[in-house]
Parts: sequence; C-alpha cells; structure tokens
Amino acid sequence: MKEIKITTEVGKFSIFKFNCVESTQTMAKELYRRYSYDAFVVWAERQLEGRGRRERRWHSPKGGLYFSLFQKDLGDLRSPQLVSLAAGMAIRNGLKQFCNISCELKWPNDVLYQERKLCGILSESAIYGQKIHYAIVGVGINVNTDISELPCEVRDKATSLKDIIGLELDLNELLSVSAEEVFKWLSFLKTDNGQKKVIESYKNHCVTLGSQVSVYLDNETISGLAVDITEEGALQVLAAGETLLFATGDVVHIRRDDI
Ligand code: BTN
Repeated sequence: MKEIKITTEVGKFSIFKFNCVESTQTMAKELYRRYSYDAFVVWAERQLEGRGRRERRWHSPKGGLYFSLFQKDLGDLRSPQLVSLAAGMAIRNGLKQFCNISCELKWPNDVLYQERKLCGILSESAIYGQKIHYAIVGVGINVNTDISELPCEVRDKATSLKDIIGLELDLNELLSVSAEEVFKWLSFLKTDNGQKKVIESYKNHCVTLGSQVSVYLDNETISGLAVDITEEGALQVLAAGETLLFATGDVVHIRRDDI
C-alpha cells in the first residue's frame, strides 16, 4: 500500500493520501487496525470499488473528492443514523464556507444542489450496545468531475461543483474545510443537547420534509407525505391515514407535476 501521510496545518488530524484504492472505507478500517489512531482521514484520487449505500457502486473518476473520516468513541447515541445527519450538515456548511453555495439535504444522506446530487455520504459504525465504538463517514463529492464519465442512470440526476461555479477547485482545500466540519458536527453528538441541535439544524435544511415521497424498501415501496424527522433521525411519513417511521430506505421526491 503506497500512501502519503499529510498532517494538516492545524495539526488536529492526519490525512492519509492515496492515488488509488479500492475504497477509502475499507482502507480506513485497515489503517485503524495498523495504527489505532482515534481520528484520521483517508483520501484517494480514485477508487476502483467505491461503495455507495445499499450495496451500490460509487463511481469514482478522477476529479472528485473521495474521503473517509474515522472517529473513535462517539459515546451514547439515540441512533447511529444521527452520524449520517451530522455528516450531511457538516458537508452542507463546508460547501457554503468554501464556495458560497447553499445546498439542500435529502434524507437520509444526500447533499443536493438545485435538486441534483452533488455529494453522497455513507456512514458505517461499530456499535457496542448503545455506544458507538467508532464511526467511519465516507464522503464523495463531485468537484471537478466530468459528469459525462458517470453512468447514465446517475448522470441525469447529478451535478458537480465545476458545473455549478464554472471553474475547477482545489481538492486539498475543500478536503480540509469539509473534514474539519465533519469532525466538528460529530463532536456535537457527544451530548444530548448536541444531538438535538443536529436534528433541528438538519430539519431546517432538509428538502424531504413537506414533500410527497416514495420510500423504496427491500420488498416494497411506500408513498406518502414526509412530515417529520424523529429524535432518532427516522423519517415520519403520512401514508393512507397512517403515520409510518422509516429508519432507512431510498427516498424519491415526487415533483408536483408527477402527481
Ligand atoms: C451514496 O450516495 O450512496 C453514498 C456514496 C458514498 C461514497 C463515498 S466516496 C468515499 C467513501 N468510500 C467509499 O467507498 N464510499 C464513500
């Protein structure tokens, strides 16, 4: 494994940089086994087997920002789902700081710009009882990505920072801002009040709320109105007069003209 270890200027965390890995998620687990650091970041220019949610592939051509952030001991969480919501808020804030764009959050963990997917987040946690022993937050942002290099089923719904802003951006700088924000938002989860703050902030920027949605589960699809996000981070949907809770699932926002 050939890596360059970069230590950030502020000296808060180490970044392991690779040209190409299978997946930064897998590499983060491997580096934890090797070094036992409490917090670090793995960054790769390309991934050969990038992983998305629900066993999907995350295509990772050059130009995108692909990193996994490892954080040990998050403490007692109402639900591991809060890790994804905190990460979504962190990336939203990072993008606002870095290039002054306002993104929306789609439950549970997509970051959209004008309804198109700009960033995907995959959170994996090791849990003992209620305690999060460690969390690995994987972030893929289409930065200088040529959208035509993505598979067609993804291409139509995706966008990149290059297309939004009209110029190429420095991946190194965006990584520093984003990773700092993710560490900060994960640290909020250590207290009960912090967990409430994460949920409230997430709800303020979540475009899923108030939308007609279809939730795709393993064996069925349920359609209804997304009305709330619980303190555990679950989506509450009003469907056929019943209130249903979803801890996970793929959500499609139904546009008014589709109804
Ligand atoms: C999704 O929207 O399905 C989540 C995509 C997460 C992709 C990132 S890229 C960095 C990290 N490494 C992976 O293999 N996946 C995540």
